[in-house]
Amino acid sequence: MISHLISEGINGEPNIPGDKSISHRSIIIPSISNGICEINNILKSEDVLHTLNALKSMGVKIEEDKKKILIYGKGLNSLKEATNEIYLGNSGTSARLLTGLLSSQKFKSVLTGDSSLSKRPMKRISDPLNKMNAKITTTNGSLPLTINGSNLIARNIDLEIPSAQIKSGLLLASLNTSGETTITENKITRDHTEIMLESFGSNIKMKKIDNKKIIKIVGKKELTSKNIDVPNDLSSSAFFIVCALINKNSRIILKNINNNPTRNGLILALMKMGANIQILNKRLNNNEQVCDIEVCSSELNGCDLGEEFADLMIDEYPILAIAASFAKTPSIFRGLKELRVKESDRLKLILMNLKNCGVECKEENDNLFIYPSKNYSVKNNIIRTDFDHRIAMAFCVMGTKLGPLNIKDSESINTSFPGFLNELNKIGGKIL
Ligand code: S3P
Repeated sequence: MISHLISEGINGEPNIPGDKSISHRSIIIPSISNGICEINNILKSEDVLHTLNALKSMGVKIEEDKKKILIYGKGLNSLKEATNEIYLGNSGTSARLLTGLLSSQKFKSVLTGDSSLSKRPMKRISDPLNKMNAKITTTNGSLPLTINGSNLIARNIDLEIPSAQIKSGLLLASLNTSGETTITENKITRDHTEIMLESFGSNIKMKKIDNKKIIKIVGKKELTSKNIDVPNDLSSSAFFIVCALINKNSRIILKNINNNPTRNGLILALMKMGANIQILNKRLNNNEQVCDIEVCSSELNGCDLGEEFADLMIDEYPILAIAASFAKTPSIFRGLKELRVKESDRLKLILMNLKNCGVECKEENDNLFIYPSKNYSVKNNIIRTDFDHRIAMAFCVMGTKLGPLNIKDSESINTSFPGFLNELNKIGGKIL
């Protein structure tokens, strides 16, 4: 895919797809609840379809039409052993959440994935589950992963790595475990699982003490399904937000965007940088905060972001690095260790591709430094993505300022945002 320079800004109202994190949970949780769940605006991207097919392969009745899907849940113990291995493509969220869910079922499951997912760390989820007596074996710490479903023992688990995927896997395991499991988060991460479990009637209690969060969940309580309207994805919006900010004469409106305070670090960071962003029509939907967002071209300042931002916007650093490249002053983003174990080593690819675009930048102790300039000269316009959707979309946005950039392996964008190219081109982008 080639992303070309645009001379005018971007203008209009792009359609942003449903939130990826909430979509995964909207399939998993109703599948083990009682009743029929109608889900509107679910994200139909490859990652989410892997979760959907996994649940179907375990006997859950799921009906799909263009706009909505229906899930016929039959309770905590209604899943059946899949006849084959469960293939999860590129989706880390599917892998970690399903490992938790399946560890307390009564059957054996084998999870596999593509070459990128098969390199990602899985002991971070199997180790805490094994402390609860789960029987999970990994292949050298990664997929393929074998789960011999068993009766788990409720324990107190202190989360060493800040990760909503690990937390959610443990919560899903606890649902079918007798007694009270306590999970302590030392850094707060996205809380979509807790919000949905609470509204489905789970016996779950949350308490915040300073920067810690303690979650107590009593298992073996059946859940009751509710209909879900999935809000649109802030992480997918991020590419449009930054594209509008860095290109002159831009104004865009993004509707019905999830504005969960455990996810909105990008907006806070950009506002700190002086971005002209208005948050409009704040409201609640299925207990998730939702809003509309108006963004206009802005002269950005650089900023120094502490590591407390990392947990609130871990997926947004590739696109924030593009914004920082066009700011008036340098930026430092601190505490980016987790970026190394995402769909690619994102820290490495951000640095390599920025340098190829002529942007001076460096990394020290997992902190990223970006020194913007007024005159970039692209050294090598081949953008390496290692099949990482967010690197590909971030550098498409870079192409609107420094194009043409040749974004390699850009089909990965289908893992989270199948309509990305059309939506950007519709409002003034030039991606071919
Ligand atoms: C996700 C959590 C984050 C994020 C991922 C989606 C989720 O991962 O990077 O894209 O849906 O729970 P970690 O929890 O591993 O940081």
